[in-house]
Amino acid sequence: MKITVIGCGYLGATHAACMAELGYDVLGVEVDDRKRELLAAGQVPIYEPGLEELLAKHVASGKLRFTDSMEEAAAFAELHFVCVGTPQLPGSMGADVSYVEAAVTSLAPHLTRPAYVVGKSTVPVGTAARMSALLAEVAPVGAEAELVWNPEFLREGFAVKDTLEPDRIVLGVASERSEKVLRDFYAPILATGTPLVVTDYATAELVKVSANAFLATKISFINAVSEVCEASGADVVDLADAIGHDARIGRRFLNAGIGFGGGCLPKDIRAFVHRAGELGVEDAMTFLRQVDDINQRQRQRVAQVATAMVGGSVSRARIGVWGAAFKPDSDDVRDSPALDIAGRLHLRGATVTVYDPKANGTARDRFPTLEYADSAVEAARDADLVLHLTEWPEFRSVDIAEVSAAVRRKQILDGRNLLDLPAWREAGWTARGLGRR
Ligand code: UDX
Repeated sequence: MKITVIGCGYLGATHAACMAELGYDVLGVEVDDRKRELLAAGQVPIYEPGLEELLAKHVASGKLRFTDSMEEAAAFAELHFVCVGTPQLPGSMGADVSYVEAAVTSLAPHLTRPAYVVGKSTVPVGTAARMSALLAEVAPVGAEAELVWNPEFLREGFAVKDTLEPDRIVLGVASERSEKVLRDFYAPILATGTPLVVTDYATAELVKVSANAFLATKISFINAVSEVCEASGADVVDLADAIGHDARIGRRFLNAGIGFGGGCLPKDIRAFVHRAGELGVEDAMTFLRQVDDINQRQRQRVAQVATAMVGGSVSRARIGVWGAAFKPDSDDVRDSPALDIAGRLHLRGATVTVYDPKANGTARDRFPTLEYADSAVEAARDADLVLHLTEWPEFRSVDIAEVSAAVRRKQILDGRNLLDLPAWREAGWTARGLGRR
C-alpha cells in the first residue's frame, strides 16, 4: 500500500519514516525547500532519538521519497495523512488551522479517484466536520474523497517509539468503509494488542486536547501543591511518591518543578479554552485558565527564588543555567520554561550562561544575547548561582567537586527536583529545590 504524508515537520517526518518501517511506500509532501531537501538527503532538521536513522534507512531503501507537488501526491496514493502544524494564532488563544485548510484545499482538486484524507494534526473540535465538507466540495470525486480523524499522541524524545507502539489508536470516522481502510492500514500495530477506539470526528478531536489538558492539569496540580509544601515545610517529592501509589492517581506527570512547555501542552490548553468559549461553554473550561496561570507562575517563582539567592538583585550576578530545551532528549525550545527563566534573569541584568547538551543552537537562535557554554562545568564557571532547568541525565551525574572548583558561590537551585540535594549540601553548597525540604 502507498501513502502520502502532507507536512513533514515533527509529526509528519516521524509518521512518514515509521510507516515506511511498517513496509508502506511513502511520499512526503513538504513545501519548505530547505526542510524537504534535508529530508530527501536522509537528514532530520530536529534532534529526535532514532528518527534520523530510520529516515535515512528508508530514503536509502527507496520506500520514502519527498516532493512539493500535491498533484504528484494525489497520483501516488489513495491514503493521505495530514500532519501540518496548528500553532497558536498571534494575538489570540485560538489555534491557527489555516495550514490544515490549505493542505485539504490544495490536495482536493487533484483527487479524481476515491481517496481517504486522514487528519492527524491537533485541531479545535468541529474542524474535521468542516474539512470533510470542504473536501467533498472541492474534490472532483466529491463524497468519494472521505475524511478520517486520527489524532497523534507522540511525545518528543519518544516520537518513533510512540508512533510504532502507541498506547492507543483513535479513529474518528464517518463511514464503515473508511474505518475498514484504516483498520487494515494499522493492522501491523493492532496485531500487537494496541487498543483501538473508533468514534465520530468530534470525539476524536476532543480526545487529543482532553488528553493534553489532563496531563497539563496534573503538572499544574502538583506545582500548586508544591507552593503549599514550601510554605509549610513539607516535601513535594515525598508527597507525590505517596499519592502516586494510589493507582487511581498514578505517579507519572506528578513531577513538580518549573512547569510544562513545548509546542503542544501550552497552546493546546489555550485553544481548548478558546474553542469552549466559541461553543458557549467557556465556564466549563475556566479551570484550564488556572492550569495555565499556575504554569506561568512557576517561571516567575523560580526567577524570584533565584533573585533572592543572589542577594535580592541579579544585576551583577553570574548565573549558570543547565538546560534550555523544554524537556530532555529534545532540542526543542518552543515555549521552553528553562529558556524563559534564563531570558527573564538576563533581562533583569544577570550575566546568564546556558549549557544544553542538544539545544544550545536552537536556544541561541531564539536568545542570541545569552552566553552559551560547551559543558555543565563551563556554564557554572564563576557563577553565583547554578540553575538546573532541564532534566538531562548528565546533570545528575556531574562531578560536584569539579563544579565546586568552578563557581564563585556554591549555590544551586534544582528546578526539576531531581538532584541529590543532600550530596550537594555535603559538599558545602546551598542547595534548594521547589517545594522541597
Ligand atoms: C505532549 C504529550 O505528552 C503528547 O502525548 C502529545 O502528543 C504532545 O504533547 P510533549 O510536548 O512531547 O508531549 O511533552 P511531555 O512529555 O508531555 O512534557 C511536556 C512538558 O511537561 C515538559 O516541559 C516537561 O518537562 C513537563 N513535565 C512533564 C513536568 O513539568 N512534570 C511532569 O511530571 C511531566
